Amino acid sequence: MFRRFLAGRVATLLSLGTMVGSLFSCGSEQGTQTTSPDTQVDWDSELVVAEAIDTNHDSSVVEIDLIADETEIEILPNTITKAWLYNGQLPGPTIRVNKGDRLIVHFTNHLSEPTTIHWHGIRVPVEMDGVPDNPFPAVEPGGTFTYDFVVPDAGLYWYHPHVNSLNQVGNGLYGAIVVNEYGANGVDSSPLGDELVLVLSDMSLNDDGSIKEPQPGDAFGSLFGHEGNVLLVNGKINPTLRPHIGQSQRWRIVNTTRALYYWFDFDESKFTVIGGDGGRSSEPTVTERLLLAPAQRLDVLLTPITKENEKKVVTWTAYDHGFGTAFEREPVSLFSIIQSGAEKEDKIDPGDLRVNVEVPGFSEADNINVALTIDQVGDKVDMGINGLPFDTMIHAKVGDKQIWTVSNSTDWEHPFHLHGFFFLELDENNQPIHPLQWKDTVVVPVHSNIKLGIFFDSRPGDWMFHCHILDHAELGMMGMVHVIP
Ligand code: C2O
Ligand code: CU
Repeated sequence: MFRRFLAGRVATLLSLGTMVGSLFSCGSEQGTQTTSPDTQVDWDSELVVAEAIDTNHDSSVVEIDLIADETEIEILPNTITKAWLYNGQLPGPTIRVNKGDRLIVHFTNHLSEPTTIHWHGIRVPVEMDGVPDNPFPAVEPGGTFTYDFVVPDAGLYWYHPHVNSLNQVGNGLYGAIVVNEYGANGVDSSPLGDELVLVLSDMSLNDDGSIKEPQPGDAFGSLFGHEGNVLLVNGKINPTLRPHIGQSQRWRIVNTTRALYYWFDFDESKFTVIGGDGGRSSEPTVTERLLLAPAQRLDVLLTPITKENEKKVVTWTAYDHGFGTAFEREPVSLFSIIQSGAEKEDKIDPGDLRVNVEVPGFSEADNINVALTIDQVGDKVDMGINGLPFDTMIHAKVGDKQIWTVSNSTDWEHPFHLHGFFFLELDENNQPIHPLQWKDTVVVPVHSNIKLGIFFDSRPGDWMFHCHILDHAELGMMGMVHVIP
């Protein structure tokens, strides 16, 4: 089953020696209709991602169609890229549900190879998790599958294939899922500004618009991970956002790249981080620069301060996540902000930004060691867990709490992801680190270790965990936790 995930692309003959040498139209309930009087352009019009259309009239059921297909789109100006897309759009449609809703997705595979959809971060039953043969086989070309589950937690999630993922994600298959905290009536009692979902991705494009083939056996490609040469914000290169002066923005950000870290700032503005992977954090933190490793999410507030009609740029900077990863790389303009329109003032009471995050105690938890390893066997590099490519199995039963000490003896960071369950980061005394934040993807620093508190609340089954640098996962840095009833 593990190997099926790789379907096709276990690189490689690379030697460590060689390598070392070298929207939906925004929360409509929050005033998207407002237009700037001079331009008559919606503040978010260049960045809007179309939402999936809900065909079910029951207000607590969202039922949508998704089709994966090869589609021609324009990414570089005046060139055609044959991408693989959900519903013909890049990124795929934003799916919006309320916490507790049932989500039904009628999926059709029009690709020329098998695929599945994994609902990254959502606590689904195992048979809906999109891991092939666990128990359902992948969806064959021309085939269909209906995903059907209840969405239990508010937050920002995303969906992507779990077959030949490096290639399928690299070709454009990903989209965001917003799970509103709003009650069943869909009303948010305290909107936190104009809301925008930002899907950050990348693509490896030739000048003629074609997608570069990943190079099997390429040492840089596999160890650093495949990073695109084109950075995309909601599928666009350097688009412009036009917020109202003084109006607070709520950005819900997901990094859907195969391997690229997003590290960026905006002028001298400060971001207030109010949440991450699994919803809101217990209290806000303030930072000048946001960092998202592959698969991570952030929920942030920002009130841009610029002069009217002055253009300022959100700038990506190379982040050093291990040997050679930030070497000689120039900053990139991600998107621009021009403010205009009537001055609006949002007064957000910082007291509103604290939320109650319930956490269990971990004093009686079992301790499990998970080592992220790279081994060189002759000319070949294996990545693994506890020295084993693909085959490490951890055992748990429903109701167990475990503390996983995840250690990294390699020269690169690894964004570690567990399917099906959230975890809390713990300190050396096994106390949750503040602000409290449920996560599903966390960076394990170079030559270091972290502790994660995991509660196997329900949902027995085989749940995958792996590095979310997809190259590393495909080289073997993945395992399973077997949760018995
Ligand atoms: Cu988003 Cu198995 O991963
Ligand atoms: Cu990794």
